[in-house]
Amino acid sequence: MTAPSALAAAMSAAEISRDAAPREFSFSAAEFGEIARLLRAEAGIDMPPAKEPLVYARLAKRLRALRLRTFKEYLALVTEPGSPERAQMLAALTTNVTRFFREPHHFEDLRRKVLPPLAERAKAGGRVRIWSAGCSTGMETYSIAMCVLEAIPDAASRDVKILATDINPKVLAEGAAGRYPADALRDAPEVLRSRTFESVEGGQLQANAAMRSLITFRELNLMGDWPMKGPFDILFCRNVAIYFDEETQQRLWKRFADLLPPGGRLCIGHSERIAGPASAMLISDGVTSYERSGG
Ligand SMILES: C[S@@+](CC[C@H](N)C(=O)[O-])C[C@H]1O[C@@H](n2cnc3c(N)ncnc32)[C@H](O)[C@@H]1O
Repeated sequence: MTAPSALAAAMSAAEISRDAAPREFSFSAAEFGEIARLLRAEAGIDMPPAKEPLVYARLAKRLRALRLRTFKEYLALVTEPGSPERAQMLAALTTNVTRFFREPHHFEDLRRKVLPPLAERAKAGGRVRIWSAGCSTGMETYSIAMCVLEAIPDAASRDVKILATDINPKVLAEGAAGRYPADALRDAPEVLRSRTFESVEGGQLQANAAMRSLITFRELNLMGDWPMKGPFDILFCRNVAIYFDEETQQRLWKRFADLLPPGGRLCIGHSERIAGPASAMLISDGVTSYERSGG
């Protein structure tokens, strides 16, 4: 058996040799700084120097795909006016981790108290609008839709719509397809999953047509203009603003608050907090859940 100290020495030697391994492309601090500046300006995302290896690894793939030899060439390409590679770069640098029924308290609240009055409204012919902002591959959005269909089984023939947006077109395409490995739905309550997903080939589950008809997936950069005017009865923006700096977060909370009617609900991620001008408009109502004042 290897002694712990020998093991530690071997591990740190392995780390040193891995860190010292020459990179395929040289990547200077100035080049990293320029990419971080672009990312913040375009997508609001803050990329601290500690994430330099992540930026290198993700963009090295783009350099290979484009058969470029240097980051200098890559930067020249992404800074060209109207360059389509700019969007590819932003997409490559987003973090898309997500899960069905992630942070389950939000869905418990929807089922228990938020959706029942909205169901009454929908059944009386009223309008219900929900926005899943920064939806990634759609797991969050379909989790919401499953709860909506429990409360309003005929939602597809009512004035009920769910908007799902993200800056990354690749994850949106996955969301629109609505196909996931069966295991991805392990945290979805069986009573909801069995009504809304069907088995397809390859051991996958596919969102059924009624559920997909409720949802529109659209590319939208939260830093840009928003074509929709709202109001939204429920707005999810979870684990997105955490990548933005404080000032950008505060501006975003205010824009969301302006799109909620009195009593409208905003759900944010577990490590995010409302601060700034929106604080006066949003009343805390449960864990990382807020209700628009005036209701
Ligand atoms: C970590 S995922 C969160 C997914 C989901 N909301 C959840 O909590 O499971 C963050 C998502 O925000 C998106 N995103 C990041 N910056 C964005 C921006 N400026 N505009 C729109 N979406 C953005 C990313 O592409 C990514 O899919």
